Amino acid sequence: MKLETKYLGLTLPHPFILGASPLASNLDRIRHAEDAGVAAITLHSLFEEQVLRYEAGMEAHVYAHEDSFSEAGSYFTKDVDYHYGPEEYLTHISRAKEAVDVPIIASLNGTHLGGWSYFAKEIARAGADALELNLYYLPRVSDESAEIVESRLEEIVKSVSESVDLPIAVKLSPFFTSLAHVARRLENAGAKALVLFNRFYQPDINIEELEPTPTLKLSDSSELLLRLRWLAVLFGRYQMDLACTGGVHNRDDALKAIMSGADVLQLVSELLLNGVDRIGVIRREVENWMEEMEYESLAQMRGSMSYCRAPNPEAIERGNYLRILQSWEPGNTLTETQ
Ligand SMILES: Cc1cc2nc3c(=O)[nH]c(=O)nc-3n(C[C@H](O)[C@H](O)[C@H](O)COP(=O)(O)O)c2cc1C
Repeated sequence: MKLETKYLGLTLPHPFILGASPLASNLDRIRHAEDAGVAAITLHSLFEEQVLRYEAGMEAHVYAHEDSFSEAGSYFTKDVDYHYGPEEYLTHISRAKEAVDVPIIASLNGTHLGGWSYFAKEIARAGADALELNLYYLPRVSDESAEIVESRLEEIVKSVSESVDLPIAVKLSPFFTSLAHVARRLENAGAKALVLFNRFYQPDINIEELEPTPTLKLSDSSELLLRLRWLAVLFGRYQMDLACTGGVHNRDDALKAIMSGADVLQLVSELLLNGVDRIGVIRREVENWMEEMEYESLAQMRGSMSYCRAPNPEAIERGNYLRILQSWEPGNTLTETQ
């Protein structure tokens, strides 16, 4: 069974990779991940705020940054101080490269065009095999149009990909009016892969203290459905590779994501919950299932449930929508209609 896949110009023995998280925040964890059989490792992000603080040579008020309600902000709470500043991050990349043979994908997290993007060059120099750009952004002001937001994201990707030889993946949120169009713009700007999707870590409210309380709830398989939809829509229409992040917890999740069009699957929550060795178990289960079903390779299965393989995707989409709504009867369980 050939599980081989290509991602960001790398040939990987199988599609299971470690998503950006503390699971690769030190060398022991990185070695453990390699022993568990990951095909590649994505490091946790270095944030724009950290680079700017370093550049300015002063303590920046990272916690008071205007994005403190965003995913970026919630990684960066007062309680969870990511102890890697930019220099330590570069050292971490070089040490990780020395410690393991699997490819190392660094991650930069930023949303404004400017002084931090030069850091991609440093990341390349430190030896990373590829770079994931996390462009999480939550527009909140009424004079910032979709066009302004999307142009800025496009410019960031362009500026980073022009400044560095590394293949760039862009990790996106699903909340765009026309995601397929944004994907095209990012591809034209130089992105070599899309990572679908960022999760929201939405703070709860402490009603007595009148304070937001950061929450970090790990995913479950129900989050995969949104990814499946968009993988299936985007597959086969771009040169870019597609990575799935969010809700891959078991064999069937993995198979569905590949059938929808994923080239690689990034896992985090499942590994935090049940240990990094789960990645090897899921890989073997996928392999066994594919053998039973007489697939010859991953390539044969990839995208088999995508829109571009469907005879009339518009009709399927509208048809399913209608059927679901019209088949609902009181007493039905949700799963019967989903
Ligand atoms: C504790 C934790 C830390 C994370 N840190 C980062 C990060 O530094 N950069 C990033 O892009 N994503 C980060 N993520 C998001 C994951 O990479 C991943 O996209 C998300 O958890 C969805 O995948 P999952 O369902 O397999 O958990 C983090 C997630 C968790 C749970």
